[in-house]
Amino acid sequence: MERINAIITGVGGYVPEYILTNEEISRMVDTTDEWIMTRVGIRERHILNEEGLGTSYMARKAAKQLLQRTGVAPEEVDLVVVATSTPDYPFPSTASILCDKLGLKNAFAFDLQAACSGFLYALETVSNFIRSGRYRKAIVVGAEKMSSITDYTDRATCPLFGDGAAAVMLEPSTEEYGIIDSFLRTDGKGLPFLHEKAGGSVCPASYFTVDNHMHYVYQEGRTVFKYAVSNMSDACVTIAERNQLSKESIDWIIPHQANLRIIDAVAHRMEVPREKIMVNIDRYGNTSSATLPLCLWDFEKDLKKGDNVILTAFGAGFAWGAIYVKWAYDTPCTKQDS
Ligand code: UT7
Repeated sequence: MERINAIITGVGGYVPEYILTNEEISRMVDTTDEWIMTRVGIRERHILNEEGLGTSYMARKAAKQLLQRTGVAPEEVDLVVVATSTPDYPFPSTASILCDKLGLKNAFAFDLQAACSGFLYALETVSNFIRSGRYRKAIVVGAEKMSSITDYTDRATCPLFGDGAAAVMLEPSTEEYGIIDSFLRTDGKGLPFLHEKAGGSVCPASYFTVDNHMHYVYQEGRTVFKYAVSNMSDACVTIAERNQLSKESIDWIIPHQANLRIIDAVAHRMEVPREKIMVNIDRYGNTSSATLPLCLWDFEKDLKKGDNVILTAFGAGFAWGAIYVKWAYDTPCTKQDS
């Protein structure tokens, strides 16, 4: 029997209209555009500021565009995975809300939480469902309303995060394209350095947790930075070596967009020129599990069939990794089309 590969057949995305600039942030906390640009590389981020809207709203917009672009009918979709750390509700899953809003009648759906590595983990997970031969149209979404867990009185974290969502379609193919290899790791050593203190089962919400700003991202940036550089770089090296990808044969590296200095360090270690690195952190900030698919959404028109693409991410847990994708299509349309 021929081997089944999981190929990406389309990308959709959505970012909310409201743009929060560095200038506006400098009026909220003691910081400057210069500090944020030089230390992190973010100029602005999109924020979902309409009351009553959550992550599923953005995920739905991204998935809807994906269905339009791929020409897939809602009833054809058989699996949906939403990677998110900012679900609409603790339960039910954001993916289940998506099924209802998009009219997906023949799918099973669940959320996957691996912080900033969520999209990478979801891509590998869903690829295996496709490879099993039992699923033919699967949607993988990375979606976050990071503004809902960002403390806008804390200058160490509030310039970093943004909101957004993007989605890809995975389908089976017997051609040698698609998700070729993955190297994913989780060590659990990152808990003290990057977490949300309250709202989980260890420390449920109370007046005390709210008064003490415990429902926001807590990060010891310097430590996380160090691990992010070494683990993302090592994961990319492992994937490149395992697949005999020389630096010349790598067409694109898509790194998690947490800090431009981390991205540059990974590019330097891989000896891959900057024009082959997808970067959009300046416009979106860190959208956690949405950064990788938002890069695919922004750069889709530059991708060509057969391109060797390495996606890499690092985040809370720690959880990190790299995935090698052989891009499966030449872009039929541009972002403005739908
Ligand atoms: O996405 C999940 C994974 N996350 C990451 O990969 C993020 C990794 N970490 C980082 O990207 C960086 O560590 C940050 C961007 C979070 C911070 O940058 P940094 O260069 O590591 O700064 P720092 O935390 O070491 O702080 C340096 C100085 C401090 O002042 P002193 O103690 O040297 O006087 C901070 O108080 O910068 C100060 N500082 C600020 N100054 C102006 C921290 N935040 C700000 C700010 N504006 N917003």
